[in-house]
Amino acid sequence: MTVSIGEITKNDAPRVAQIEKECFSVPFSEDDILSYIESPIWHFLVARDGDLVVGYISFTVILDECQIVNVAVTNSARGRGIGSQIITHFLSYIKEKGVGSVYLEVRESNIPAIGLYKKFGFLEVGVSKNHYSKPTENALLMSLML
Ligand SMILES: CC(C)(COP(=O)(O)OP(=O)(O)OC[C@H]1O[C@@H](n2cnc3c(N)ncnc32)[C@H](O)[C@@H]1OP(=O)(O)O)[C@@H](O)C(=O)NCCC(=O)NCCS
Repeated sequence: MTVSIGEITKNDAPRVAQIEKECFSVPFSEDDILSYIESPIWHFLVARDGDLVVGYISFTVILDECQIVNVAVTNSARGRGIGSQIITHFLSYIKEKGVGSVYLEVRESNIPAIGLYKKFGFLEVGVSKNHYSKPTENALLMSLML
């Protein structure tokens, strides 16, 4: 499925909050998302199927370093290449901004997300013990040099 990917608008906040709730045990609220949209270091790219947001990536950029906060695709649209399109677009977006390295944390058990990151060349660089709550779990640290 081909989606169009672009920067978030404030109108997208309720839908992104809905996908957060669907995907994560400690989701960002609509208010969180609205305040992050205002922040100069936060970025969101959303993937649209027609008018409907079906996925997104949130990340921070500080100087030439980027940290992925979340990437998510709504349950019913997974496994159809949307996550890959989001990461492809994200990588060219941050390269244009002069970013040199990307870091992220991911639950050790999150096989689909780890597979997605590895597909784009991310390497495992460490483990953060008991990083997550609900449930408690280690984070795998991954990075990509651009
Ligand atoms: C991770 C996620 C964004 C992937 O999105 P997607 O649209 O399903 O991804 P794609 O269809 O583009 O698949 C890309 C790659 O991911 C991996 N992958 C996706 N689903 C997988 C699964 N069920 N099992 C194993 N690997 C999987 C594969 O490596 C796949 O590559 P391939 O198609 O060449 O085999 C999606 O599963 C999701 O939203 N998960 C819940 C939110 C989440 O945990 N986000 C990560 C937070 S750090």
